[in-house]
Amino acid sequence: MTITIKTTEEQARMRISGRLTADVLDMIGEHVRPGITSAELDQICHDYIVDVQQAIPAPLNYRGFPKSICTSINHVVCHGIPGDRSLRHGDIVNIDVTVIKDGFHGDSSRMFIAGKPTVSGERIARVAYEAMWKGIEKVKPGNFLGDIGHCIQTFAESRKCSIVREYCGHGIGRVFHEDPQVLHYGRPGTGIELREGMTFTIEPMVNIGKRHVRLLPDGWTVITKDRSLSAQWEHTILVTSTGHEVLTLGAEDRAVRKQP
Ligand code: MF3
Ligand code: CO
Ligand code: CO
Repeated sequence: MTITIKTTEEQARMRISGRLTADVLDMIGEHVRPGITSAELDQICHDYIVDVQQAIPAPLNYRGFPKSICTSINHVVCHGIPGDRSLRHGDIVNIDVTVIKDGFHGDSSRMFIAGKPTVSGERIARVAYEAMWKGIEKVKPGNFLGDIGHCIQTFAESRKCSIVREYCGHGIGRVFHEDPQVLHYGRPGTGIELREGMTFTIEPMVNIGKRHVRLLPDGWTVITKDRSLSAQWEHTILVTSTGHEVLTLGAEDRAVRKQP
């Protein structure tokens, strides 16, 4: 296990990659409407990253992934491949964007709802959002990875939802997925201790039904076994001397959130 500690210069470059990632998600929001296909959302993001940001969409050709973003709709847990399915009223969709700029990665995802939300769609998206923030709040030097996972799991289960175990957050930097693994469940005080200069993602996948998942034959798409709705949010986080900095905050959150 080799966890990279980012220097001040590397942190500055991570900040830029994180900002670009957030900008893509800020940009795509208004396009998520009934009738648009996930392939169209992919094309819009791809062109923005390549032409406007002059950056690289990390998923494209990553271990054979065929598109530039992941789009995970309704009971799709993660790694959905953009395609010809049009969004319908009430669909919930996770859009996961990873941008490489100047050699460093930013990775973030959000839930969007097409048209009029359903009660259960809105609920699972909100529980996953709050679960992610419960984890982020634990990030500071001297705390442990297990503290993050424990808080996320406890919160989601208190809302009668379940946490997917097969996929986790990850260290990030020059490498898309590096050490450590950031589990979204666990026990306080376990795992590695957090240190200033670490960068990793927190990206809980929360199901409204049971936690079990199945991989589709395309080798990428992960769905809930019971076909229940699943939601996920993701931020890239830097551990600072006093707490943390969320590197992928969108414009609205940057205006209101104080970073500890
Ligand atoms: N962005 C995803 C993550 O949060 C990984 C997607 S890998 C891909 O780690 F190949 F599916 F793009
Ligand atoms: Co990630
Ligand atoms: Co991601």
